Amino acid sequence: MTHDTTTLNAPPGMPATVLDWVAEIAALTQPDSVYWCDGSVEERDRLYAEMTAAGVLTKLDEKLRPGCYLARSLPSDVARVEARTFICSAREEDAGPTNNWSDPLAMRETLDRVFEGSMRGRTMYVIAFSMGPLGGEISRLGIEITDSPYVVVNMRIMTRIGQAPLAAIAAGAGWVPAVHSVGYPLADAAGVARPDVVWPCNDEKYIVHFPETREIWSYGSGYGGNALLGKKCYALRIASVLARDEGWLAEHMLVLRITSPVGRVFHLTAAFPSACGKTNLAMLRPTIPGWKVETVGDDIAWMRPGPDGRLYAINPEAGFFGVAPGTSEKTNPTCLHALSHDTIFTNVALTDDGDVWWEGLTDEPPAHLVDWTGQDWTPGCGRPAAHPNSRFTVPASQAESICPDWEDPAGVPVDVVLFGGRRASNVPLISESYSWEHGVFVGATVSSEQTAAAEGKVGALRRDPFAMLPFCGYNMADYWGHWLAMGRRLGDKAPRIFQVNWFRKSQDGKFLWPGFGDNSRPIEWALRRVAGEAEAVDGISGRVPVPGQLNVTGLAISDAELAELFSTPPEAWAEEADLTEEYFNQFGDKTPPELYEQLAALRQRIATAKG
Ligand code: OXD
Ligand code: MN
Repeated sequence: MTHDTTTLNAPPGMPATVLDWVAEIAALTQPDSVYWCDGSVEERDRLYAEMTAAGVLTKLDEKLRPGCYLARSLPSDVARVEARTFICSAREEDAGPTNNWSDPLAMRETLDRVFEGSMRGRTMYVIAFSMGPLGGEISRLGIEITDSPYVVVNMRIMTRIGQAPLAAIAAGAGWVPAVHSVGYPLADAAGVARPDVVWPCNDEKYIVHFPETREIWSYGSGYGGNALLGKKCYALRIASVLARDEGWLAEHMLVLRITSPVGRVFHLTAAFPSACGKTNLAMLRPTIPGWKVETVGDDIAWMRPGPDGRLYAINPEAGFFGVAPGTSEKTNPTCLHALSHDTIFTNVALTDDGDVWWEGLTDEPPAHLVDWTGQDWTPGCGRPAAHPNSRFTVPASQAESICPDWEDPAGVPVDVVLFGGRRASNVPLISESYSWEHGVFVGATVSSEQTAAAEGKVGALRRDPFAMLPFCGYNMADYWGHWLAMGRRLGDKAPRIFQVNWFRKSQDGKFLWPGFGDNSRPIEWALRRVAGEAEAVDGISGRVPVPGQLNVTGLAISDAELAELFSTPPEAWAEEADLTEEYFNQFGDKTPPELYEQLAALRQRIATAKG
């Protein structure tokens, strides 16, 4: 194909594969113009100014929140849409029972239909981006095409965009294509124009992945994980497939460096379902003296064995797209300080002096706000001021806890993997897996109360294996098999696996564990286990601290409460085991036999506990 590069506006040196693809998408979506993002501050400021003039963004008070903006989405576009997220593998069984599968050919026809003319009247932005430090061995490139300037400014924070990835692509590096349209053209096929709206989107939504051809197509939503395609779509769904094929791991995990009082350095990754306090853990301020926690990543880890046989993790992202409500000087001061400048807020409330507010930010709400829907809000009016899934987009470098090595392309060596969930009962504060296989069993069977990060019934218990339920790009049972294979490869260099539950409640419904900075206590026990310094006793769900080994000095927690925090009632666990069997059976003969062996071992421990 030949191109008229003046209409494509491509920078010099772009390979034909890139030009062909951009030309093909432009021909399909029919934008007014094509613009290649250079990632510069000037470009960002120009887009901010244009969006502010158009009423898409509100500039916050320059003294109170310098460089900060507020966006409000439509109430129909406030979260990831899991029911509209598709894995279009050639064979249905390769998507598995936990994903929505759609026939790739049929889906391509649908996408051709919805994308046809979808960018009419708009600018088509071409964003080259790197997931991970540019040029790093674990890092990968992508190109997102979007008709949303809001996506451009968010991608600029969340990934490394512009000239450098463009140059790497021009030099021949591989890249993943990702197409996004809000699905709100400004003219119809006959050229009849309509005005733009503040939050363009479409009631029909498709978040589509073709794992074999490593392609992403997203239509109809401008929000977060639906639209910032480097995050969930690439760094998890497509990357999990790349990782399976190439022998590495793409995980929904934060990454921390933790230094002990005697200067021993550990690295920990942790998988938690969305909106379960992962950002707070990523910026943990330990309440136990002498320990230091530094942030490498808050959401996603890409990990592969290094030359010494250990597992090394990078954070493929460059920013945090975190949940605002609940973030406060008490719960996460580090995060709050990071949000003091150069942050994009979405769906939080606006104060009368041009600042932001959300539930939990202060004990007393302001007397008047403009809520996330743009309406006047007063305390007691019966509506939340900020949407429960309202977000901030902030450069990771703005966190005072950022690890000096967070951009080391080689990554950090992982000592401990944590699996967490939100469970009012049964799951103890912390337990250590008996083996890698047992750890994989624990990760595979995690269930958690659902939060507002995705559409669905908040509070309902759902299985969220490895916190990857909405993010695994292939059959979940094959994914467990991949983890087992990685364990065999890592051998005795494999990280140790622990399960945590900060959300255990007493019979009368009160949280038993203070959480936040005190989560450093069970983590300290885990790290002391790794160092061979802490004792454990065998329990139903794993090894738990020998009484007295969990550091609770200075905590107002009674022995009875501690016992309740660690109780694993055998009857309840017998029910859990039965549900687990049903769950595994869903995957037919794909469920690895090792996991049924672990289930049998669990039942044995339950039987022993019943006596
Ligand atoms: C996220 C999520 O936004 O998991 O990180 O939903
Ligand atoms: Mn997440």
